[in-house]
Parts: sequence; C-alpha cells; structure tokens
Amino acid sequence: MPLPTLVLLHGFPLDHTIWEPQRKGLSDVAQVLAPDLRGFGTDDRPVPEIMTMEAYAQEVKDLLDENGLERVVLGGLSMGGYVALAFAEAWPERLAGLLLVNTRGTADGEEAQRGREDTARRALAGGVPVIARGMVPTLLSEATRGRHPELAAEVEALIARQRPEAVAAAARGMALRPDRHAVLGSLDVPVLVITGEHDHLMPLPTSLALQAAAPGSHLAVVPGAGHLSNLEGPEAFNAAVRTFLAGI
Ligand code: MLT
Repeated sequence: MPLPTLVLLHGFPLDHTIWEPQRKGLSDVAQVLAPDLRGFGTDDRPVPEIMTMEAYAQEVKDLLDENGLERVVLGGLSMGGYVALAFAEAWPERLAGLLLVNTRGTADGEEAQRGREDTARRALAGGVPVIARGMVPTLLSEATRGRHPELAAEVEALIARQRPEAVAAAARGMALRPDRHAVLGSLDVPVLVITGEHDHLMPLPTSLALQAAAPGSHLAVVPGAGHLSNLEGPEAFNAAVRTFLAGI
C-alpha cells in the first residue's frame, strides 16, 4: 500500500524547517510534505498586505492539485492549524485526517487584534530580528530552553531571517480569522489534537475545546514541551502521529 501523504504547515513566524524531526522520523510511515507558507522560508514570491487563513489554504489546495494529491492527512502547528481548519472548511473531501498541533479554534478578541497590528508594524518598521528575541521564551518551555540552549538559538535565528512583509501579512491575516470549532463537528475524518504540557500561548483548555468539538478525536500532550511540541519533544510527538496514522 502506498504511504499516506502528510502535509505539515508551520506556525508564525516560522518556516518549513521546524518539521525536520518529522521529515526524518516519520518517513517510513508517511510521505511528509512541509511547504513554506507565502513569503516564509524559501518562498520568495511577493506578499500581499494581508494573507488571510483562507488565502494560505487556497495555496495549500493548489499545491495538492499540482502534485496530483487527491487526499492527504493535513497537519498544522498554531497558525498552520488555523490554515488547516480553513482548508477543512473549504475542502473536507480532500482530507484523510486532520492533525491540529498547539493551536486553537477560536477567533481573536479586539485586544489580540490590536496586538497583531502592532506586531505587523513593528516587523515592517524595525525588522524581524527585534521581534525574534522576545518570542523565544513564549515558544519554548523553560525546561527546553534550559536543556537545549542551542534549540533556543536556532529558533531565534529562524524567526530573525523571515521577511518583514510575510510576518506583517500573516499577523494581519490571523486577526481576521473566524471561530472554526463548528467545522470540526461536521468533519468525517480522524482528528488528532497535540499540544505541549507547558504551552502558555495555547493553554490546555484550548486543546480540550478542539477535542470536544471533534467527535471521536484524540488528544496527545507532549511532556515538558511548550508551544513547539514537535521540536521540543520529537519522540513523543512522532509516536502520537504514528499511532494516529496507523488508524487511518
Ligand atoms: C503561531 O505559533 O503560529 C502563533 O503563536 C499563532 C498566534 O499568534 O495565534
């Protein structure tokens, strides 16, 4: 039997390289595709002022079409999860499974929306490196930073090299996303929710809400990990995905 295709969407303001532990660790059970969302990483196309989650999802759909992929297991971390939910709403028939990693189904409140605009302006005015240093403590757990200072440095460098216009467009797009819990209620494919034990950006109740919205879904919590659970606890993360894929 051909291996299932697992498409993994990165979070904000990151790129495809965050999925390296999955590309390496899951290649015997899935064909892993990890694209860069518009303007991030190796994607050097022009970026509009705002990239909505729907616009990113359209580009994921185009990627599947270009590669002749009828159905895939789609996964997304944080912002990548928002895009995966937008995709699930528009093209549920293209999914064989859905993997929601350190993410949430809710929309931004007004304060969060103002914060997005502030992030967008700071990225455009001051560059991304200024934002990068401040973000690392919110992305990686204290335990990860203590045990793997090299990972903290890598994540900071990864953020710092992203294009300001891509960061601004994504921040403004995230501010516009609707609540998508209802999408999960009507979805007829297996759903796995994964989070980190110490993710302060998306505390456990946000993952429990996703799980509750998706009938029959499972939740895996990566011990000791923060917001980047796939990087911080790759063994536990990959083990959960393996079990999930085996059931599809
Ligand atoms: C992400 O990791 O993609 C972001 O934290 C998502 C967000 O800011 O809502």
